Amino acid sequence: MPRFDDSDFGVEASPSAAAPRGSTNDTRSPGDRGSTGGQLPIPNVDNIVEVPATRSSISDAASFMHNLSLAPSSRDRRGSRNSFGTSLPIPRSPRVSRLSSVVPADVSRDILASQIQDMSKEKVAAAKNMAFAFDIDGVLAHGNHPIEEAKQALKMLNGDNELGIKIPYILLTNGGGKTEAARCQQLSEVLDCPISTDQFIQSHTPMQALSDYYETVLVCGGEGTKIREVAENYGFKNVVLPKDIQAWDPTVSPWGHFSEQDRNEAKPRDFSKIKFDAILVFADSRDYQTDFQIIMDLLLSEDGRLLTRAKDLAQGRIPIYFSQGDLIMPTDHKGPTRLTQGLYRISIEAQYKALTGLDLERVVYGKPEEATYKYADEVLRSWMEQIHNENTLPQNIYMVGDNPASDICGGNMHGWNTCLVRTGVFQGGDNDDTNPANFGVFPHVLEAVKAAVRKELGQEFKFKWNPKVNPVLHGNNASAIE
Ligand code: G3P
Ligand code: MG
Repeated sequence: MPRFDDSDFGVEASPSAAAPRGSTNDTRSPGDRGSTGGQLPIPNVDNIVEVPATRSSISDAASFMHNLSLAPSSRDRRGSRNSFGTSLPIPRSPRVSRLSSVVPADVSRDILASQIQDMSKEKVAAAKNMAFAFDIDGVLAHGNHPIEEAKQALKMLNGDNELGIKIPYILLTNGGGKTEAARCQQLSEVLDCPISTDQFIQSHTPMQALSDYYETVLVCGGEGTKIREVAENYGFKNVVLPKDIQAWDPTVSPWGHFSEQDRNEAKPRDFSKIKFDAILVFADSRDYQTDFQIIMDLLLSEDGRLLTRAKDLAQGRIPIYFSQGDLIMPTDHKGPTRLTQGLYRISIEAQYKALTGLDLERVVYGKPEEATYKYADEVLRSWMEQIHNENTLPQNIYMVGDNPASDICGGNMHGWNTCLVRTGVFQGGDNDDTNPANFGVFPHVLEAVKAAVRKELGQEFKFKWNPKVNPVLHGNNASAIE
């Protein structure tokens, strides 16, 4: 039987491997025999041949990546109605739900609170001139587990404070995958506090504006058919999920999953006759292979028609939008943070570049994108109208987030005060080096909220409502009596 030495392949034998493996002259201990100083262990067998690699062991993904600058064809389209690649459409004003879930009125408490507020006009004005935008994952909750300090912070902002006043706040998350109503109901239970859809923005919420541009859309991500409902609520006329295409032609995804439940949920049509207008990724994929394959089929197709290949890719490619760009996210997993949509997007960019040699033009919504923060301003303004009957945007807005690259970066760019908390993605030192929070770093959301409220309403501000407060004495430094 032929034997091979390292020299046969032009490689130097490493000193620690000098003794023939498995030889009786090998004086290394069994532990030493199993490793080469932290490199791959050397198997103690004779029937393996190590053939030198002909390709570099260093990833070549960088050469496939998008360089983030506008592609020439995007620049040419600037100013056209479909400004894909150069601007992000958002709704001019948020849809206000008719069924608001603002805390039910406690009439006697409200009367007492309004008497106290009448006596403290300056503080009331300051309370209405500040607001919070909270990130959810890693700030208010981990998955379905609340962060206890968050519950206290929201209770205080909902009126459990010395003025009995609601200090406005919205929730601004890069999460998504289900309707705003469903997510708010879930959050209300998790946080033990009513959360209204009118104070809530998830990554894809502003993308409802795209329904004015595109009729037939492939929508990817999320569980079951939840995103079908999301997209239809946004006004998209023909919503197609990858499973609809799989049901029409199961060979579309050779290694994909397709369960009985998928079959029941799917809405197959004759997709050979359908022209897709855009691809929308709303949430993390539950079947990466199928989604990758169908997205790539459409990106490479002639004018958004499956089973075709474009003659001129740069001209005919249909637009693709991602709802957010976070690379990692905190979950209730006990180990390091988990991978999320941003890395999925990068995989698609690399696949596209590898297959075509072209950079993929794509639009990414969500924090830190300016469009998302502009939309947040509109939601805050309209929320102020609901809770204080004043259609104004508070001047002192505090973003509380755990992810410097999205929450803090976006908040800083938008001129908000930014608070970084240590309950999620950020695990660093005094502050983040690249995107430092301008208001500070806090152990958790409650400390951030208290610091912000003290700055705006005074160091002595009490974070507790006293139901026995005497409104007459309140203005005389005797705000609470037992
Ligand atoms: O990035 C994924 C998502 O879970 C992040 O949510 O609330 O931290 O913006 P959030
Ligand atoms: Mg977060």
